Amino acid sequence: MKTIFSGIQPSGMLTIGNYLGAMKHFVDLQEDHECYFCIVDEHAITVPQDRLKLRDNIRSLAALYLASGIDPDKSTLFIQSEVPAHTQLGWMMQTVSYIGELERMTQFKDKSAGKDGVSAALLTYPPLMTADILLYNTNIVPVGEDQKQHLELARNLAQRFNRKYNDIFTLPEISIPKVGARIMSLQEPTKKMSKSDENQKASIFMLDDPKKIEKKIKSAVTDSEGIVKFDKANKPGISNLLTIYASFTGDSIKDIESKFEGIGYGPFKQATADVVIETLQPIQEHYQALISSPELDHILDNGAEKASLIANKTLAKAKKAMGLARVRKDK
Ligand code: AMP
Ligand code: TRP
Repeated sequence: MKTIFSGIQPSGMLTIGNYLGAMKHFVDLQEDHECYFCIVDEHAITVPQDRLKLRDNIRSLAALYLASGIDPDKSTLFIQSEVPAHTQLGWMMQTVSYIGELERMTQFKDKSAGKDGVSAALLTYPPLMTADILLYNTNIVPVGEDQKQHLELARNLAQRFNRKYNDIFTLPEISIPKVGARIMSLQEPTKKMSKSDENQKASIFMLDDPKKIEKKIKSAVTDSEGIVKFDKANKPGISNLLTIYASFTGDSIKDIESKFEGIGYGPFKQATADVVIETLQPIQEHYQALISSPELDHILDNGAEKASLIANKTLAKAKKAMGLARVRKDK
């Protein structure tokens, strides 16, 4: 059975971009793969966080994974900072990373542009992400399109380590969904929808109530043509709504286009809001039942324990390969 690893940062409320680009696929994958899903809180602190908000976001993200369908009997769900092997191997992977290649990462460039006091950890984020993946002998990493560059680097770093020291790491493959890999902002449809967008109307959050979802979709930026047709270059807003509709229902873009032919944007936007609400409502109910439950803590304790077992084994191999620590003479 192939092993899957993926992580989401607890850096704010999840959007439907995270759901369609990542989480929804995790739920399908757990049926026939060995799965590890991680709340990557150590990645989140590469930019400033409010401690109380971060704590809430960590618990909230754990509840959302479960509410969306991650089954703790099938998948290992855990918090990155509760498995120390991640930062340990992360440090070791930094030693095979070049500053130049880290500076070339788009995410680093975007997040550091024009800012003072950029943390060194923002630059060394990719070797930590590489460690996350390699610790579990991961074969496949399901992520949205924005993570492609990080995954390519992870493969390079793994290969570099294997060549330099010992062939111990499995090379991970990336898996990007065919539809929904890049959900765009509702207000600026040429920019990706993001948890941290300052404009609240730009993103639909997984815990938004139906009224809010309806309002946001109705005020989504479109064009004046009045034709529901997929054309990313000329109609980015409508194309984004079509992608959202298609990803939530599984219908093909062609079928949706014919369904709304000659009807105009009003009814199409209403129908899009309806399909989003229909999926999110049961997830939200499940979330409310979990968020304050002791069950959530048990699941995360078990997850950290299970993850540590395999992570520590890989870490021990990597330390040995690099010559860290000592050879015992007392046994
Ligand atoms: P992040 O929000 O950066 O922690 O991302 C968590 C996961 O969601 C990653 O696999 C991202 O690629 C994916 N993701 C984030 N934003 C979007 C988006 N707008 N469209 C599709 N996938 C996304
Ligand atoms: N960098 C990813 C993001 O911003 C989150 C992440 C951290 C991740 N470690 C990972 C994703 C390992 C996949 C595998 O979305």
